[in-house]
Amino acid sequence: MLRPGLTKTSFGKRLFVLSLALLVGGVIVILAGQYALGQAPVTLTVLANQPGVKIDPLFYGLMTEEINFAYDGGLYAELIRNRTFRDNPQTPVNWSVAKYGGADGSIKLESDPVPGTALTMALRLEAPSLLAGQRAGIANEGYWGIPVKPDTTYRASFYAKSAGPFRGPLTVAIESNDGQMTFAKAEVSGISTEWKKHTVTLKSGKATPSTTNRFVISTGTPGTISFSLVSLFPPTYKNRPNGNRIDIMELLAGMKPGFLRFPGGNYLEGPNYDNRFNWKQTIGPIEQRPTHMGPWRYRSSDGMGLLEFLEWAEDLNMEPILGVYAGLHIDNGARIITGDELKPHVQDALDEIEYITGSTSTTWGARRAKDGHPQPFKLRFVEVGNEDWLNMGTASYDGRFTMFYDAIKAKYPNIRVISTMRSQDRNFKHSRTPDFLDDHFYVTIPTALSQAHLYDNYDRNATKIFVGEWATNSPRVGDTPMMAFALGDAAFLTGLERNADVAIMNCYAPLFVNVNPGGRQWAVNLIGYDALTSFASPSYFVQKMFSNNRGDVVLPAKIDPLPMLSAQQIPVAPQPPPAPGAAPRGGGGGGRGPAGPFDGIYVSATRDNASGDIILKLVNIQPAAQTLQIVIEGAGTIRKDASGELLIGELGAVNSVAEPRKVIPRAVSIHDAGPRFTHQLPALSVEVLRLKTR
Ligand code: AHR
Repeated sequence: MLRPGLTKTSFGKRLFVLSLALLVGGVIVILAGQYALGQAPVTLTVLANQPGVKIDPLFYGLMTEEINFAYDGGLYAELIRNRTFRDNPQTPVNWSVAKYGGADGSIKLESDPVPGTALTMALRLEAPSLLAGQRAGIANEGYWGIPVKPDTTYRASFYAKSAGPFRGPLTVAIESNDGQMTFAKAEVSGISTEWKKHTVTLKSGKATPSTTNRFVISTGTPGTISFSLVSLFPPTYKNRPNGNRIDIMELLAGMKPGFLRFPGGNYLEGPNYDNRFNWKQTIGPIEQRPTHMGPWRYRSSDGMGLLEFLEWAEDLNMEPILGVYAGLHIDNGARIITGDELKPHVQDALDEIEYITGSTSTTWGARRAKDGHPQPFKLRFVEVGNEDWLNMGTASYDGRFTMFYDAIKAKYPNIRVISTMRSQDRNFKHSRTPDFLDDHFYVTIPTALSQAHLYDNYDRNATKIFVGEWATNSPRVGDTPMMAFALGDAAFLTGLERNADVAIMNCYAPLFVNVNPGGRQWAVNLIGYDALTSFASPSYFVQKMFSNNRGDVVLPAKIDPLPMLSAQQIPVAPQPPPAPGAAPRGGGGGGRGPAGPFDGIYVSATRDNASGDIILKLVNIQPAAQTLQIVIEGAGTIRKDASGELLIGELGAVNSVAEPRKVIPRAVSIHDAGPRFTHQLPALSVEVLRLKTR
């Protein structure tokens, strides 16, 4: 049962107001029958002629790292898993021998470097005695299948050499896992006893989209052939040769993100020193990239290297927020690089900035041009490390941060340097004042709701905040957020918008999850996919609705009386029991948080300068519809016709590969808007309204 009429201002007279409100509410219900659960109307007043703080165009962005098969098996469009045979030194994981017509054949992993490259391992196919009609080959299972789509051109490439004279040819094919159906096929000849790279295109015809397929390179001619760096790409976003999956890029483009924070997260730090994100080993042709072990328990192909991150940002008009390795790893402080030992890594960071921003007359700018991008990129933000308050990093961070800060500011005075210390690390003393602190929040619904006010009283003269990772995600279960979490997200975001002078930029995390069994290391992620299909979560839609309707300036807005809810009355995240053998929940609280009371409605009002539109973001977390009397003061004209979007769904509802559109925003049209009008907020809903002033 709600307690309408309780206001923050009249909190002390709660009992009296409660009785009165119940009486009034009851009478209204009986007389008018229109207020579910006895809701009393409340007034939202927006002062359109008193614009407040500005919202940075970069306010909404993306945070990304290699986690949950985010790039390999995700955004990075490569379809071959374990393409350089380094994922397991003992056995060629994800590869098998393909045999046809009763053929004999075997595969084995061997150390066989390709000269002039970083390739060290090869897969050797031995098929010495094939009879007429028989074939043997190497088969790759992809990242939980090779996606087949109709009328699609795939680019395959591989290094090969034969043990002796080989007449060939080799057949390259995408076929069903049982080998019964071939969807695309081509032949490659010219295999010799020297390593050589071969490329070929394959085109599918009519085909039903499917993932139960494999990629096979086979021979009908007896022989022993070794392979290295086997690659297969479908069409990519903007046709980038080493590029990204189109469907996922389109989802990201829909969010209109302002920036890309990369390469992590823990992925920047790596599980140990040798496996930090060593950017110099992620550039150039893919055969020159040695690959490395990520902190999330799988090896990265490094196909998504520094230049690919930058091109990804470029393709979506995002500014890079570059995280530079700063001596800390995900190893509980086993080894922290400081002092003289850190100096080469400070230089690495300067080189990295030069690679990104330098003209082609600089060493690293020239290298970028050689890698295919002569035009320098814009770079205004560099973050020193990641979460240095963890892994015993706090004690050494001031020293480490200072080294990077001094070096970066000396050479690039306009770059803004972000510390990974949080606003809550109040006792931490920086010898150099950072341009931003980086706050991270993974929270329960009650915490998200109360954090809508987190920055209300933040010292306006203190260091500004970059909310570099956040999500309502706890208790953590499932691949992507349910609707209840999206409500928490939306409420929190209204608070960030209102405090956009303090919390200058923000990004949800993690961004991606491959939803196949074994694909996830972290529960609750913004966008999910398998090899063929990607889907957006309710939280994604909140991001999209808010980002697409950001506005340039905050307008003062007040709800009076503000309905208040107790901890028992706010939305609860329904928790299905984890499936037997399901991926770990990844820690997190048990839905606990502040005791309340909590606001029942959250609002952010902004104005878009170009259109003059007044944008209202309204989050009703009450389990009942709420009638709002909306009063816009000082706007002059408010047109009758207004539009917007509404997100609503069962609290436990999630989207999935099977049901990608279970919870999606629906269009809202209003034809009675004006300086004063009445609007109904559905229960448990997120709504964005654009009011026209011209
Ligand atoms: O987003 C997942 C992880 O959470 C990030 O890698 C890390 O920065 C944080 O602890």
